Amino acid sequence: MALENNGFRPILWKQGEHVVVIGRTGSGKTYLISKLIQLRQYVVFFRTKPDKNKFPDLFHTRTADAMRHFNGMRLLLEPDYKRQAVEGYRMLDNAWQDGSWCIVIDELWYAEEQLGLRDYVNRMLTQGRSKDISAVLGVQRPVDISRFALSETKHVFIFQTEGRDLKFTLRDSTTERIVPAVQSLQRYEFIYYNRETGQIAKGNANALERVFTSTYRSQPLDGDTRIRHDQRKGAARRL
Ligand SMILES: Nc1ncnc2c1ncn2[C@@H]1O[C@H](COP(=O)(O)OP(=O)(O)OP(=O)(O)O)[C@@H](O)[C@H]1O
Ligand SMILES: [Mg+2]
Repeated sequence: MALENNGFRPILWKQGEHVVVIGRTGSGKTYLISKLIQLRQYVVFFRTKPDKNKFPDLFHTRTADAMRHFNGMRLLLEPDYKRQAVEGYRMLDNAWQDGSWCIVIDELWYAEEQLGLRDYVNRMLTQGRSKDISAVLGVQRPVDISRFALSETKHVFIFQTEGRDLKFTLRDSTTERIVPAVQSLQRYEFIYYNRETGQIAKGNANALERVFTSTYRSQPLDGDTRIRHDQRKGAARRL
């Protein structure tokens, strides 16, 4: 099987490209996402349920207004329960206005179905690229993400997944080669699939440094975007 020595050609995750992380509860999705977003400069991690993952490099906030302030550009947005829907909406709307954010929705099904954010999420997925917005989506089962949404993601990470989910839903929306690859996974391992190149590789979140070179981290925002952000920073300082 073409797993390329169990390793990777370096993955270039560009701003504006979307990522999906699929895996059953406890498989390591949130942990992997916490590593991936270290590559991004303007992040909002929308957390709608408690877990043990730590985000020491993110500024913890309860409101999406924090996106408006210079010091809060890398955020863990954890709204009060009753305000999840409205803050989720505001987060997506702010990102839409500004462009260039990396928006993490850790529980996609919950955000779409329970919080009613499906339309806004879909707008981000289909048109976000033109605004340089990257979405990172976490889902427990392949059936929790629509085929449409999945088709908009370029980088697919899959942890252990079983039975029908794997053999039908996932295979149909990715590639045949996914099935044996995912079946060979140990705990905390994932299969990476690149929808554009067809690359498949096996990995672990603790070895991501080997996967993504540090040059991506320092990749600057493009001219337009930088201006938008700088204007906003200036506005925040004047307050
Ligand atoms: N690669 C890894 N190596 C060691 N420990 C890991 C790894 N990935 C995850 N863990 C640990 O396993 C536990 C579960 O991981 P995580 O919370 O990321 O799972 P999850 O898929 O997000 O689960 P849920 O669907 O319930 O949110 C965490 O305590 C995390 O620290
Ligand atoms: Mg999680």
